Amino acid sequence: MEKVLVTTALAYTNGPLHIGHVRSTYLPADVYTRFLKMRGVDAIHIGGTDNHGVPIALQAELEGKDPEEIVEKYHEMIEEDLERLNIHFDEFSCTCREFNPDHVDMTQWFFKRLYEEGYIEEREVEQLYCPECERPLPDRYVEGVCPYCGAEGARGDHCEACGRYLEPVQLKEPKCVICGSKPEVRRTMHLFFKLSEFEEDLKKWLKSNDNLPKNVRNYAIQWVREGLKDWDIVRDLDWGVPVPLERYKDKVFYVWFDAPIGYVTFTKQYCNRTGQNWKDYWFSEDTKIVHFIGKDIIIHHALFWPAMLIGVGATLPYTIVAGEYLTLEGEKMSTSRGWVVWVRDFTKLFPADLLRYYLIVVSPLTRDADFSWEDFRDRVNNELVANLGNFVYRTLSFIYRFLDGNVPEAETDQEIVDRIKETHRRVTKHLEKFRFREALTEVLRLSKFGNEYFQEHEPWKLKDEDPERCAEVLRGCARVVKALAIMLAPFLPDSAEKMWQSLGYEDSVHDVDWEEALKDVEAREIPKPEPIFPKVTEEDLQKAKALLPEESGESEGPDDEYVSLEEFNRLDLRVGEVKEAERIEGSDRLIKLRIDVGDRTVTAVAGLYPTYEPEELVGRKVVVLTNIQPKEMFGVRSEAMILAVGDEPALLTIDESKREVEPGEQIR
Ligand code: MSP
Ligand code: ZN
Repeated sequence: MEKVLVTTALAYTNGPLHIGHVRSTYLPADVYTRFLKMRGVDAIHIGGTDNHGVPIALQAELEGKDPEEIVEKYHEMIEEDLERLNIHFDEFSCTCREFNPDHVDMTQWFFKRLYEEGYIEEREVEQLYCPECERPLPDRYVEGVCPYCGAEGARGDHCEACGRYLEPVQLKEPKCVICGSKPEVRRTMHLFFKLSEFEEDLKKWLKSNDNLPKNVRNYAIQWVREGLKDWDIVRDLDWGVPVPLERYKDKVFYVWFDAPIGYVTFTKQYCNRTGQNWKDYWFSEDTKIVHFIGKDIIIHHALFWPAMLIGVGATLPYTIVAGEYLTLEGEKMSTSRGWVVWVRDFTKLFPADLLRYYLIVVSPLTRDADFSWEDFRDRVNNELVANLGNFVYRTLSFIYRFLDGNVPEAETDQEIVDRIKETHRRVTKHLEKFRFREALTEVLRLSKFGNEYFQEHEPWKLKDEDPERCAEVLRGCARVVKALAIMLAPFLPDSAEKMWQSLGYEDSVHDVDWEEALKDVEAREIPKPEPIFPKVTEEDLQKAKALLPEESGESEGPDDEYVSLEEFNRLDLRVGEVKEAERIEGSDRLIKLRIDVGDRTVTAVAGLYPTYEPEELVGRKVVVLTNIQPKEMFGVRSEAMILAVGDEPALLTIDESKREVEPGEQIR
């Protein structure tokens, strides 16, 4: 029988999950796998965490911990977050070399195979080295000015401001992020995966694979057109999968080399557990591999990874579903600024299904979406509660109160049978094509139809005037509830189960066949019904909004306890020399100063009078924060802040007894 292997991008263990991760990747994969399983397809969902790479090594270093401690902490949190949202995995593992030796084996197996096939080449590279820390500085261990857009704070691998990929040696004014020193360029040997040799194969695959969605295909084809460069798969780092060659024993594989191999490692682990052969998944024509990812990692999945698979002779993905990005209240999410909604915060306030609902209907997966708390409340209250919840509850309550709690024996109107059939056909079609929003909207349309049917037939009158017809009407409505429960099961697993059990079924809706939605509802006794969805109240909304920082600029993230070195390094503290000083008219305390800070002269306004006379300040060296947000006082724009002690100010002095200090020198 055909197998389907669904994978989800492996989350980095440098934080818990936020709703963006869920939207693009984990939720659609879960809905899809649940749908396939209900259809009787032999489908599994494989996932886990991605534990190597510079960000994790760096975070560990900044927190003074071992990388594996960070990995363990966030792996557990991520796994809990996924459980909270009912995102189910058949295997959930990790790529960590300390916790999962199988992954080291699999990565080295891939490497050896590519090596033997001649797809790996040794080359000398230039890389940055910190003379102070006495070590190489890969990727994010350096920051500097972006050579393309001129933005400051560009990282060694990527510029946030313009989105370009970078090499550390391309950065202007590079700085070691650990100690701030200026790095040197050194030469060393690295291993390259010859991506350029796969250009034709990749082009052919991208063009001929009709299953690939447009956003993935176009983006990847564009990259191939620009020409594929060979890919440096080695880093001078001691955190990662070791390179199994004697002369590379101090180096590890680049995280993007080992991470996708995690999909294979985890499949093998699943197979070992269930008595199957992993090669039936990865080396078989009868398997469809479906990768769910977010749009930022299309290149890795649509070019690098398929090339690696071709290189070892494995099966290429059947398709790659790339969810576009989620913003929050109209702004880009940022974990460092606290501008995110963490899954664990959400589920403290609301049932998981409300998030699942919202994230699916808010926008198609192939378009960016925005999460807004008010819109969330409106959609839950107006759609889930007022439409779906209302229909189910009124149907079941009517049966419970007026029909002795028994779904009646009666005929069902053809209109209902047809309507369910049509909805089922459409929902199935949409889900097969990964159109999650359209599918769920279609289900909601059926409950709207149910509401209208109920309203139109006025069973509250029929129950006395025409009990037989009343029974038919309620039988029809109950049949709609049954179909809804089944078709909602992949989307809203808890609520669907609740609906199913409200109909008096004792098994689980998740064990029911997808086609069962078309079949008649049995005459049966039902328990006392309860509302399926809670309304989002004003109070809930206030609590939810309180999760976000007042202004998006202020950070209230999870790591507020300490200032990381990275954060401290954002302060541009320098030695300044006061060139001019004068009192500001109309103010008792303020003095306007012109200060030489090395590359420019800035204006600062400081409350130094009457402790200091303007004249005695001129020529003094002071400590200046030069990148404070400018502010206007008494009509003067102050662009810098002078550091001083207390209300009766005492200026900080620079000790020049050992050497002379120049204006502009950095203070660290
Ligand atoms: N570790 C890599 C994936 C390796 S796969 C072999 C990674 N991890 S991640 O933690 O940064 O992201 C996990 C998933 O969430 C990715 O699919 C990513 O695209 C997605 N998203 C991260 N932030 C997102 C939004 N703000 N919005 C939508 N998706 C987001 O990438
Ligand atoms: Zn350094």
